Amino acid sequence: MNSLLINLRPSVYDAMSISQEELGYLTDCNSLEDFLSPNENLAYKKLTSLVRQRTWFMGRLVLKKLVNKVVYGSKKKLNEIEIFNKACGQPYVKEALYVSITHKSDLAMAAVSASNEIGIDYENMKPVSGLMQRYYMTEEEIRSSLRVHGDKGLIISWTIKEAAFKAIDDGLKRSLSDLQIKFVDTESSHVFSTNGDRIATVFSSCDEDSVFSCAILGL
Ligand SMILES: CC(C)(COP(=O)(O)OP(=O)(O)OC[C@H]1O[C@@H](n2cnc3c(N)ncnc32)[C@H](O)[C@@H]1OP(=O)(O)O)[C@@H](O)C(=O)NCCC(=O)NCCS
Repeated sequence: MNSLLINLRPSVYDAMSISQEELGYLTDCNSLEDFLSPNENLAYKKLTSLVRQRTWFMGRLVLKKLVNKVVYGSKKKLNEIEIFNKACGQPYVKEALYVSITHKSDLAMAAVSASNEIGIDYENMKPVSGLMQRYYMTEEEIRSSLRVHGDKGLIISWTIKEAAFKAIDDGLKRSLSDLQIKFVDTESSHVFSTNGDRIATVFSSCDEDSVFSCAILGL
């Protein structure tokens, strides 16, 4: 998955991933308090499921490592970098960076940008039923995604829209039909609002098992 991130990293953003194995290694050698601030420790303990605790923790850990690398040259203690969430769930940090997190049970990814709001989404490669396709795409989006990406176009489009929703402040209040995808090439697409304004450029990458998209607002 790291190779996917490296392939499509433009200068405007930086991204990092962490796997469950890396997490195991880190937590074998350290305690939770080494990674989490006192507030984060409390929030972690309130999470009821073990899976949720793991994904929440992995998302925070990888974002903290990335902020530490970009802002502090990896010299700061991770428990001194705090990740907050707005009421809508969007993460933010006190450092001057826009940030985004995505996770599955075995992997978490984070991205930061100093200049533009961003959103990322990671999904396992999977077929998308006809009913589901029409839930989040127009007929034109379905046709063009298949033309540009073949069968993978449907799940790639899912990550493009999810990433764009995450990048937009209070984006989840918008309806799915508010965002329309126009594919530029196999690595990039533009997302437009219904009034024709370009909202974001989205960079996407995939391998046999997974898809990753990063939406950059205002690009
Ligand atoms: C909230 C939502 C964006 C999360 O996406 P997901 O694929 O389920 O989960 P991911 O692992 O990719 O992302 C989870 C992280 O997104 C972040 N997030 C949550 N709400 C967010 C928001 N409103 N804006 C930006 N980021 C948000 C959080 O950091 C969260 O991790 P955390 O709770 O551990 O901190 C998604 O469930 C959703 O509601 N999407 C609405 C749009 C839609 O209907 N999409 C479907 C078809 S395109």
